Amino acid sequence: MPKIEIVPSILSADLTRLGEQVQEAESSSADRIQVDVMDGQFVPNITFGPLVVEAVRRSTGLPIEAHLMIIEPERYVAEFASAGADVIIVHQEATPHLHRAIQHIHHLGKKAGVAINPSTPAAMLEDILGDVDSVLVMTVNPGFGGQEFIAETLPKIARVRQMMVERGLERDIEVDGGIGMATAPLVVKAGANLLVAGASVFGSKEGVAAAIHRMRESVRS
Ligand code: DX5
Repeated sequence: MPKIEIVPSILSADLTRLGEQVQEAESSSADRIQVDVMDGQFVPNITFGPLVVEAVRRSTGLPIEAHLMIIEPERYVAEFASAGADVIIVHQEATPHLHRAIQHIHHLGKKAGVAINPSTPAAMLEDILGDVDSVLVMTVNPGFGGQEFIAETLPKIARVRQMMVERGLERDIEVDGGIGMATAPLVVKAGANLLVAGASVFGSKEGVAAAIHRMRESVRS
């Protein structure tokens, strides 16, 4: 099983002091930062573009993931790559040319992830699994932070891990949505190793450092 990593997503950060929040996450031992990109079409919300990835890039040395919750993401892969994203994640549901999009991301020298929504079966990854660096299993319907974890996604996480093992693939499985102290152990047990967390980190009353520490402790055993 690849290393367990905590990936705060900036959707729930205090955007009036985004740089500080990113630096707080970094000094609290976050492993990566995720920028939740939304276009108001693929998901019912509009958030950030390449400019915000550039701003996050100036704020941290951590790897940055651009999670493109946008239709036809291949149109903007180059912009997010040049803005400083290290990992670019596209949705299987968002383009008829997923393989080409993954190839494009790799040609730009970046890591490529494919994301699937709660209603998309793991089987849809059959013919792309060997080409990607990570699979992101959405554990909420994408669009907003602070949503309820969808427990029905747990068997899918296990299925994706099994598909990787059957193919001899040691790849990351990332989960995103409703990940906190209670759900982190469940998704890790199912096979996930990259834990995206927005509200449970940036919305935590205990503060970012304590939230990240507690989440890490919750999956240590
Ligand atoms: C898609 C968003 C959220 C966010 C994490 O809806 O991209 O998943 O990253 O949300 P929470 O606050 O549930 O950790």
